Amino acid sequence: MNVAVVMGGYSDESVISIRSGQLILTNLDKSKYTPFEVHILPEGWNVLIDGNKYPVNKGDFSFEKEGKKTTFDVAVNTIHGTPGEDGHMQSYWELLELPYTGCGFYQSALTFNKRDTLSVLSKFNIPKAKSIYISKGDVISAQQVADTVGLPFMVKPNQSGSSLGVSKVNDLADFEKALEFAFAEDSDILIEEYLKGTEVSVGVLNLNGKTTVLGLTEIVSHNDFFDYEAKYQGKSDEITPARLDAATEQKVRETAAKAYEALGMSGFSRTDFIVRDGEPHFIEMNTNPGLSPASIFPQQAQHAGIPFSDLLDSEIKLAME
Ligand code: DAL
Ligand code: MG
Repeated sequence: MNVAVVMGGYSDESVISIRSGQLILTNLDKSKYTPFEVHILPEGWNVLIDGNKYPVNKGDFSFEKEGKKTTFDVAVNTIHGTPGEDGHMQSYWELLELPYTGCGFYQSALTFNKRDTLSVLSKFNIPKAKSIYISKGDVISAQQVADTVGLPFMVKPNQSGSSLGVSKVNDLADFEKALEFAFAEDSDILIEEYLKGTEVSVGVLNLNGKTTVLGLTEIVSHNDFFDYEAKYQGKSDEITPARLDAATEQKVRETAAKAYEALGMSGFSRTDFIVRDGEPHFIEMNTNPGLSPASIFPQQAQHAGIPFSDLLDSEIKLAME
């Protein structure tokens, strides 16, 4: 079976995605699959073989090498950010009738939009932070924000990942700088109450037909919050399993599974929560969670004693159904 392992993307997360893709290439069972490394980058779409690049034919997502055309049976998608985590690639593969891993195009677009995700989840009684949504050109003062969501507060691009463009505002004087930083990533911004509690990241997937919580990882950032440096440059402790009492752990598991189903997920996901006063508050859903050596999802698989190749088998089987 020819498997396109699709990585890269057009956002600043592309370097992380390429690391995620390498983990998949290493772990796919070669007795079952013939994997190909496919890079979707702003400079072009290419299949990489032995250091050579072969352009992808966008008409049918195939490529040619020495006059021989190769097509794929399935796309294993590990692009973070646009165009692979926001529904664009999913829509394209849907039209080509090419099976792909992960959730569908609508669910991808929905969950890549933090505001719309929160809006859908509001019907499911899942606690979340107080928030304000603004677009470029809107006028709001730091004081107005603080009056609504309190201080400190978080400023986030509405559509982005890996905490790019995210700041924690501790002092009203830093609001303008935080806006500028977030608007560099997106023209819409979500400002959220800062939830002080235990940050927990929860891998959830559909494993052999069942919503399965892979594990709970507690995040202890050495920085002021779990920013890019804390995520990828070792400035955090990631503790699996999270140090929660049994009742709270159970609540987080149930809430994570509920969010997964409410948002129509399938395949790998990672949901971030902040547990405050025993209540898991939903922060966001990641539909193509990082699979780099520094990422949480592979650590949880290892801790659960599930070989990563088994998770990939399940993911491909689900895509082919
Ligand atoms: N967006 C990053 C890759 C993650 O969720 O792990
Ligand atoms: Mg994210």
